[in-house]
Amino acid sequence: MGGSAGARALLWGALLCGALAGPWATGAGGSEDAAALAELLPETGVRFGWRNLSCPACKALFLALDVGVQLQSSQDWIQRTGVAVCLRLRAGTPQVCQDVIRLFVPDFLTAWRRSVLRPDEICGLLVGSRCGHWDIYSDWNVTLPRAPKPPVVPPAPPPPGAPSTRILFLTDLHWDKAYAPGSDPDCKDALCCRGGSPSRGPGAGFWGTYGRCDLPLHTLESLLQHLAGSGPFDLAYWTGDIPAHNIWEQSRADQLGALGTVTALIQKHLGPLPVYPAVGNHEAVPVNAFPPPFVVGNQSSAWLYEAMAEAWRPWLPPHALGTLRLGGFYTLLVQPGLRLVSLNMNFCSDANFWLLINSTDPAGQLQWLVGVLQGAEEQGEKVHIIGHIPPAHCMRSWGWNYYRIISRFEGTVAGQFFGHTHLDEFELFYDEETLSRPVGIAFVAPSVTTYVNLNPGYRVYQVDGPRPGSSFQVLDHETFILNLTLANVPGAKPQWQRLYGARQAYGLASAFPADWDALVRRMQTDEGLFQRFWLLMHKGRQPHKPCQDLCRTALLCALRTGKADDPRLCPEHAQKVPFAQIQAWWRQRQLC
Ligand SMILES: *[C@@H]1O[C@H](CO)[C@@H](O)[C@H](O)[C@H]1NC(C)=O
Ligand SMILES: *[C@@H]1O[C@H](CO)[C@@H](O)[C@H](O)[C@H]1NC(C)=O
Ligand SMILES: *[C@@H]1O[C@H](CO)[C@@H](O)[C@H](O)[C@H]1NC(C)=O
Ligand SMILES: *[C@@H]1O[C@H](CO)[C@@H](O)[C@H](O)[C@H]1NC(C)=O
Ligand SMILES: *[C@@H]1O[C@H](CO)[C@@H](O)[C@H](O)[C@H]1NC(C)=O
Ligand SMILES: [Zn+2]
Ligand SMILES: [Zn+2]
Repeated sequence: MGGSAGARALLWGALLCGALAGPWATGAGGSEDAAALAELLPETGVRFGWRNLSCPACKALFLALDVGVQLQSSQDWIQRTGVAVCLRLRAGTPQVCQDVIRLFVPDFLTAWRRSVLRPDEICGLLVGSRCGHWDIYSDWNVTLPRAPKPPVVPPAPPPPGAPSTRILFLTDLHWDKAYAPGSDPDCKDALCCRGGSPSRGPGAGFWGTYGRCDLPLHTLESLLQHLAGSGPFDLAYWTGDIPAHNIWEQSRADQLGALGTVTALIQKHLGPLPVYPAVGNHEAVPVNAFPPPFVVGNQSSAWLYEAMAEAWRPWLPPHALGTLRLGGFYTLLVQPGLRLVSLNMNFCSDANFWLLINSTDPAGQLQWLVGVLQGAEEQGEKVHIIGHIPPAHCMRSWGWNYYRIISRFEGTVAGQFFGHTHLDEFELFYDEETLSRPVGIAFVAPSVTTYVNLNPGYRVYQVDGPRPGSSFQVLDHETFILNLTLANVPGAKPQWQRLYGARQAYGLASAFPADWDALVRRMQTDEGLFQRFWLLMHKGRQPHKPCQDLCRTALLCALRTGKADDPRLCPEHAQKVPFAQIQAWWRQRQLC
């Protein structure tokens, strides 16, 4: 990044995620933050050389400011400045800018007051280390067990006739209760298809629209009716993002309404099927704002986790509901020999501004994960991990710790399942020693929603087991879509159809991590294979721009990347294009 535009985006990108593509979408390093912030500060109206300030004067100033930002008048001033910046960046219409700033500013100010604007932090940054310690997003390590890692046994295909488990995977439903067929699919807001007439063309389709649009409830109902008749499934994983992308106008009541309505719809249509949810970044108000448990009272996430525990009571045992209430994560045994861990990935996200206060293992979740995996290893259980935001999109320390954990427990973690990008992709994990032997894979499944320019879709995983000694590894997966071009023809019925099966489409001998690693290598030389992947990644709907050169290099690198900011993961690609450039491209992708 660089330039004051970058600095402003650093600040406001946090607020407008969804309305503004975050150029810092993954683990920005601490020194980069500091430089950007130092650049930003002179623009807030105060003009003098920060370095000339004496340390006591700096601390006195920020002690005073600490009181100052609590005053209503300065909150108004910050709100007005925020709206001005939002407008200048053309991040939204005047109404959207007003709404989004009104929604974000109060919580954001609390976080700033308790972190960046603490005299020790800010004076350490501005005056120098003699005056304080700039500690935002500093490094930290979880403690791995002392027990030595068991010998590695590569997964093997099950014997013929062995049982397998079918897991339904739903992610990113994004129900828009204001979706209006016939409305403008090409509006100025971050979310369209919800009122106003189109300037040209037929307007939003009945079942959904290729555009910046989410889904009406009748499309979700059509999906669930179809699923009720296309099983049987043994389990379902459901990895979050229930509400729509109208993040500038949502309230707690809206989010709880979406949680209740969609949960009830799933229970109505899928009946006794056990469904295991994970918390997405859109469940909160404002979006991405998930205060860790050190924030208490009305600003905490209690309003959300309590409602989830209530809505999901039919699916989860009491001890799982207990940790869900505390931090939005849980574990339970879902089949003999198979343990599920549902992580709250909002605690790894740099869009979660509450982590400015303290980003060290929020809620102790990763240390808890280590304990769960150690217990599973001792019991001979295999573990599936589900979560919303995939690990390579996490902040550096969180992601690197998670990577170490996956490598240490490669014999126990049999599968990892995520969503959030709305696209069909994956992230490979390699051994810590050489970063060349694949030890795991995080599948990133495509969204149910169309947002942006996609067909609606869902995923089914076929998993080994249960039987004594089964690996619980993914043996294959299938992706299903609703072809909107066909569905929206007047008089047509919506037809959910199989788009592809992974092993057949990519010619994989099996679907273990080593097969996906080999696929990435094959795609490096086989242009046709790469283009097939690119098309399926977008659920069979060709994006407007083809993927060549930098796009292609960055994507192949991203598939090898289970943690952010490690150039050693893509040595071949970094020979062609500098790693910084690969990463800049990859971060520009519109997420949330
Ligand atoms: C800050 O200090 C530098 C040298 O230490 C001096 O050249 C500069 O004039 C000072 N600036 C102000 C605004 O006092
Ligand atoms: C975390 O571990 C790494 C690798 O062992 C080490 O280089 C780093 O200094 C540690 N960081 C902290 C804060 O302990
Ligand atoms: C808690 O916060 C919400 C959202 O900011 C607000 O609407 C509500 O009035 C608050 N409740 C109390 C008791 O302060
Ligand atoms: C941040 O949280 C960690 C873990 O809870 C704690 O050890 C550390 O002291 C905290 N840091 C600050 C500056 O409060
Ligand atoms: C969807 O249907 C249209 C119209 O028949 C067709 O051109 C397109 O290829 C289909 N897309 C997929 C992914 O099957
Ligand atoms: Zn989403
Ligand atoms: Zn998301």
